Amino acid sequence: MDLLEAATKVRENAYAPYSRFKVGAAIRAASGTIYTGVNVENVAYPEGTCAEAGAIAAMVAAGETELVEVLVIADSPTPVPPCGGCRQKLVEFGKGDVRLTMCTTDGASQTMTLAEVLPGRFDASHMDRT
Ligand code: THU
Repeated sequence: MDLLEAATKVRENAYAPYSRFKVGAAIRAASGTIYTGVNVENVAYPEGTCAEAGAIAAMVAAGETELVEVLVIADSPTPVPPCGGCRQKLVEFGKGDVRLTMCTTDGASQTMTLAEVLPGRFDASHMDRT
């Protein structure tokens, strides 16, 4: 199964009764295994989580900490970009040249690297005071 197929399939399980905006995410980890996630909303709106966060959690829970490819899909007019928080979550586990493919359910897509979607990112070097 490829990333598009995995993300498309898992998206059906998104829990999005408030926004009605279902998102599916698929991550290929360094081992080659694909991990998936969906957005999980909550009646206390800020407690909802994004699809990317779910996929990252599944990857880490399985014992992997390096992602090599990411794909996100939603029923949006243009390819759906991860929110700012998810960009930071993704770069925690992926190098700058990792390809992020953003898709619509209509078949449009756009591919960028993690470095392109999060320039000037905060990293551990900013905490180095010596
Ligand atoms: N959402 C994601 O899951 N991933 C994205 O990349 C963008 C936004 C979710 C959060 C919320 O459940 C819904 O989409 C509307 O913002």
